[in-house]
Amino acid sequence: MDLNIKKNKLPKHVAIIMDGNGRWAQKKGYTRIYGHNKGVKSVQKIVEEALSLDIPYLTLYAFSIDNWNRPKKEIETLMNLLINSLKREFEKLIKNNIRLNTIGNIKTLPKKVQDEIMRVSKKTKKNTKMVLTIALSYGAREEIENVIKNIAMEVKNNTISIENVDHSIINKHLYTQNLPDVDLLIRTSGEQRISNFLLWQIAYAELYFTDVYWPDFGKKDFYKALFNYQKRERRFGKTSGQINF
Ligand code: IPE
Ligand code: IPE
Ligand code: MG
Repeated sequence: MDLNIKKNKLPKHVAIIMDGNGRWAQKKGYTRIYGHNKGVKSVQKIVEEALSLDIPYLTLYAFSIDNWNRPKKEIETLMNLLINSLKREFEKLIKNNIRLNTIGNIKTLPKKVQDEIMRVSKKTKKNTKMVLTIALSYGAREEIENVIKNIAMEVKNNTISIENVDHSIINKHLYTQNLPDVDLLIRTSGEQRISNFLLWQIAYAELYFTDVYWPDFGKKDFYKALFNYQKRERRFGKTSGQINF
């Protein structure tokens, strides 16, 4: 397949549900933990590829609010992997002018993870080439729940009036307040569901599902997704004729 990517038609914001670490490992006779370790390598590769294509926003679903229901040992491994990856990749984020951003209920993460996130976020705050957002203890319904509570409070305090509550006010209250809407959402591992990820922000995203497990997802697969995206016509409710006028 000719995977010629047009540089002028790239998505600005790519979000990825990185799924399939466990199944990848188990198919090969390894532990699920080994799969998560391999998954980190895919993260490194895809960040590099997105960077070299000048994609300004990359958002990765790393740990959902429902993932707290996994075995304690697996959660522990994932948290340690996170700390070690942040420590190891820190210099690279600086060198490549990447800003680290997180979304989700960060306060529920172990203190050590929170500290590392704070440190790296602070040190990369002024970086401008790419915003790398990691979703941790994230749930879209919980995010929306909080938005509603906060807006209701502001209405009650007379900080805003009900008539002024619109898309833009809602956007300003989301974790993603500084990010544009998602253009392309990729999910690996063959599952075709959203699993409580960015429900508001994907309203007009193009969805792309692949059977490839996350640890196997590399440059070729990423380019395939982008190529597929570029073949689509995003109409945002208009007719094809209006778009191509
Ligand atoms: C994705 O892989 C990583 C996380 C959810 C943390 P999984 O761990 O969900 O792998 P599968 O879906 O069980 O194969
Ligand atoms: C979604 O994957 C969350 C992440 C990739 C971090 P899950 O593996 O947790 O989702 P379900 O359970 O298959 O829907
Ligand atoms: Mg999974």
